[in-house]
Amino acid sequence: MSFKSVIRNAQVFDGSGGLPFCADVAVNGGFIERIEHVDKGGIPERGDEDIEAEGRCLAPGFIDVHTHDDLEVIHNPLVPAKISQGVTTVIVGNCGISASPVTLDTEPPDPLNLLGRREQFSFPYFSDYARAVQKARPNTNVAALVGHTSLRNNHMPDLQRSASSSELQAMRAQLRQALQQGALGLSSGLAYGSANAADTAEVLAMVAVLAEQGGVYTTHLRTEFDRIIDAIDEALVTAGEHRVPLVISHLKCAGRGNWGRSGEVLAALERAAQHQQLACDCYPYTASSSTLDLAQVTDDTEIFITWSTSCPDQSGRPLADIAEDWGISCLAAAERLQPAGAVYHCMSDADVRNILSHPLTMVGSDGLPNDPHPHPRLWGAFPRVLAHYSRDLGLFDLATAIHKMTGLSARNFGLKQRGFIREGYCADLVLFDLDTLESAASYAEPLTPARGISRVWVNGTCAYRDGDVLDSRSGAFLFRH
Ligand code: ZN
Ligand code: CU
Repeated sequence: MSFKSVIRNAQVFDGSGGLPFCADVAVNGGFIERIEHVDKGGIPERGDEDIEAEGRCLAPGFIDVHTHDDLEVIHNPLVPAKISQGVTTVIVGNCGISASPVTLDTEPPDPLNLLGRREQFSFPYFSDYARAVQKARPNTNVAALVGHTSLRNNHMPDLQRSASSSELQAMRAQLRQALQQGALGLSSGLAYGSANAADTAEVLAMVAVLAEQGGVYTTHLRTEFDRIIDAIDEALVTAGEHRVPLVISHLKCAGRGNWGRSGEVLAALERAAQHQQLACDCYPYTASSSTLDLAQVTDDTEIFITWSTSCPDQSGRPLADIAEDWGISCLAAAERLQPAGAVYHCMSDADVRNILSHPLTMVGSDGLPNDPHPHPRLWGAFPRVLAHYSRDLGLFDLATAIHKMTGLSARNFGLKQRGFIREGYCADLVLFDLDTLESAASYAEPLTPARGISRVWVNGTCAYRDGDVLDSRSGAFLFRH
């Protein structure tokens, strides 16, 4: 008996949230073949790759449940921002925007433009996208949602209203087909101008297709500001009506007037969780990031411009400074900068901690890979949860932190044989040194890789080793089962 890889004397966190144990783990043919506790003798056979972990932590590869890596995994298949953090699976297509199924006659509408330029959208069918990912062979596994806004844009000439019944039929048929081709579910981005006019009945009709085919519903709420409870109610009703599993995306209390309300928000979710399947994701930062939204322009909190197509020389500066230089209001400056991207420092750390530590919450980066000056969550979200919030602040123990990015995520999204270190499971693994682990990406220097990640395996093949991203490209496209 020989193994491709044996990892010895690792502190194994199996993804369940249970206590770690010291074990040897053997990998073969892309799967975890054996796990033997060290105090019972471990694994005597040597592996082709035989690694002495010396007590470092071995966890299931992290699952980034909230990404916008749809086109990134094709155009930049090494996916360095993710693999360097220990992320082995990305779920794309969040916030209502997906690269497929998409047919564009014009430039992509906001915020679909976050994913890429018009000519990069070439996937009229979900199966085209899945095939393109398989051909690109990225370093991470990829699973995909279908975006409600993408479907609206395929079938509606005007996004400033609800879909007509014939448009809705076409959107439903396209969603059904994508689900049959392996999409995980549907996402919506109801806060954005391109989907905000969709009424609850439209969303309900879309979610009904999920009930019929199986699949999850993820939603960027209609608002994350003062009326957040109404928005949560809408999400609960839409998913609950058809008994579809719900994931609330990047849950937050946005805007100074809304700070301190996380307890109320979480209590509403806890009540609902007693009778419907739901979860949420969250990134470990007090700033959000997206396209520059005029409705979010405020003097209350800092807004930082990350890119601007009309005034590229202003990117990398606070909006207030730009407005002052121009001698106009922030709102007028924001109008002049369009289209643009921004980082909004719109949350309180107490709310972030409260939401992140809640048992319903998974970790998702919401990173924006096309942004030239991205929010640091793109390169740092996962190590920040482990190093800053768990190790340094003691917000939760390490096993819980890991569960929130592995087992819990795999369960909520129905990813079979992922998210746990168990015999027979896929060998997506990350080995890290808790003492030196650090999320090095900052707002000022967002493109800095994490420290302390020793090795990352994707389907049994090493894709990251001591600071080097390898060209191993062993990620798979994960079709809904
Ligand atoms: Zn979003
Ligand atoms: Cu998002």
